[in-house]
Amino acid sequence: SSSPPSSSSSLSSPDPQAPKQPFVIGVSGGTASGKTTVCDMIIQQLHDQRVVLINQDSFYRGLTTEELQRVHEYNFDHPDAFDTEQLLHCAETLKSGQPYQVPIYDFKTHQRSSDAFRQVNASDVIILEGILVFHDSRVRNLMDMKIFVDTDADVRLARRIRRDTVERGRDVTSVLDQYRKFVKPAFDDFVLPSKKYADVIIPRGGDNHVAVDLITQHIHTKLGQHDLCKIYPNLYVIHSTFQI
Ligand code: ADP
Ligand code: C5P
Repeated sequence: SSSPPSSSSSLSSPDPQAPKQPFVIGVSGGTASGKTTVCDMIIQQLHDQRVVLINQDSFYRGLTTEELQRVHEYNFDHPDAFDTEQLLHCAETLKSGQPYQVPIYDFKTHQRSSDAFRQVNASDVIILEGILVFHDSRVRNLMDMKIFVDTDADVRLARRIRRDTVERGRDVTSVLDQYRKFVKPAFDDFVLPSKKYADVIIPRGGDNHVAVDLITQHIHTKLGQHDLCKIYPNLYVIHSTFQI
């Protein structure tokens, strides 16, 4: 048709004045798979955007005195070890553009700080990282992109032994016992089954620069579409004219 595009064609285009909703990325994978490393690489490449990283670890429940006395029997890899309602509230609040006070968790004492929080402000990109961030469907449904970091179990165990003995105050025997009793079974029962929700699977974690480049290019494109719309508010109308 040669008729000019009706004004209703502009109704379907995004409102350039509308506040931009943050782009939410979920990053899951087994323990020590390189989730944090991949998140840091993504953050570095998105240096022109406001990005915040939320670790599911921050939402571990603090242990009671009785649980602390039998800490070697506590399963930190089961979904119930996390306060998922609070993680959901955090993700929803940040996605709506409001700030949130994220708890601070200590892996040595297995407790949250009673008085300190990390203040997280509104951002363009929110990254939710953790072994079980795909487990709860309500948290999962907030995500615009889901990434699973896939690293061989032997590599992960070797990294975990080094990290937990150096950074988390553990000895090798307790790391191996915990891995056999809780970490590996929970990976098989909860973490691996959640891989099916991933949009992108990154083999080898942080060693995979090509995958991280492709992911950040995609995020830039998604965020850029909104910015272009602000500069050229008629862009979508022009586009519809060409289609007529
Ligand atoms: P996650 O967040 O999945 O637990 P991290 O990114 O924190 O994993 O990595 C776990 C440990 O392995 C850290 O000590 C980190 O320095 C190390 N690590 C991560 N990726 C690599 C890599 N590609 N090569 C060597 N060491 C790595
Ligand atoms: O950083 P990463 O994803 O490895 O963190 C999750 C792991 O932390 C879980 O596999 C869990 O066993 C471990 N953990 C722990 N002690 C705690 C809390 C979590 O060993 N107090």
